[in-house]
Amino acid sequence: MPNDPGYFPHSRADIIQIALAGLTASPKTLPAMLFYDEEGCRLFYEITRLPEYYLTRTEIALLTSIADRAIPDGLRDAVLVEFGGSDESKASILLDRPGSPFTAYMPIDVAASSLAASQARLSARRPGLTIVPVVADFMQPLRLPLFGSPAVGFFPGSTIGNLDPVSAQRFLTSARRGLGAGSWFLIGADLRKSPAILLPAYNDSSGLTAAFNLNLLTRLNREAGADFDLNAFRHEAVWNDGESRIEMHLIATGDRTVHLGARSIVFREGETIHTENSYKYTPDSLAAIAERSGWALHRNWQDPDGLFGIFLFRYQ
Ligand code: AVI
Repeated sequence: MPNDPGYFPHSRADIIQIALAGLTASPKTLPAMLFYDEEGCRLFYEITRLPEYYLTRTEIALLTSIADRAIPDGLRDAVLVEFGGSDESKASILLDRPGSPFTAYMPIDVAASSLAASQARLSARRPGLTIVPVVADFMQPLRLPLFGSPAVGFFPGSTIGNLDPVSAQRFLTSARRGLGAGSWFLIGADLRKSPAILLPAYNDSSGLTAAFNLNLLTRLNREAGADFDLNAFRHEAVWNDGESRIEMHLIATGDRTVHLGARSIVFREGETIHTENSYKYTPDSLAAIAERSGWALHRNWQDPDGLFGIFLFRYQ
């Protein structure tokens, strides 16, 4: 599963409550956290391999090329704390580097089973590494068992982009408290760029992103007893330049009434359910949000095409 905020095996009552809150609002919304059931995780993994979805391969190539510079000099016996670390593949680029200062890895995620699988894989490969999985929602304030070790936070995948600016600042502030004085934070973020590149990444020609978006409705039918007709909604991603974000929507293709819990929800043709935001940062806009959260930009890197950025922040 992706390192996305808020993968929860919600109860039926929780899901009904969460979905109704969004679907009875105006305009209608559904929270992106509902994407990541088993099928949503599988579809997201497929999305990361799409030719149009440049983010994942660009970040991995960039991280690999800067791995020996991305971690500040002079650290020893440090712990790498990954926020949303249910898959160790990106962290491994840093942990496996010759001369790595990390003797411990602390992935934080709500998905206990993914954390256990990741721990088993990593400990077989790196028997000397201390692995301390933390089953928690990293959006909540955390007391991390760091015991005075120097900490480097790691938040790859442009997950920061799925948080609105207020939530991003709240997250960066609480991560700073959790990591503590003297810590560092390495963040991967997708950069603002031409919609000619952004839009195909979220409206891919094979329809995987559409399937990922529509899977939300399948999930509500299965887990919340809703009666969405999947043929009555279509996926569309649009670029909102003023907000510097891709927005994903599900658009009603005709007038419809959907039943969920005790409510009937009326859709007019063309009405949308706003399901996800993916903010695209400039180095300055990300540095500004981090600065307001107590982090100073130390260094940053971009791939040669300026698509994706990796940012190293210092606790201040
Ligand atoms: C997980 N997150 C960074 C993805 C993104 O690009 O915002 C989620 C996604 N939504 C559609 N495609 C991928």
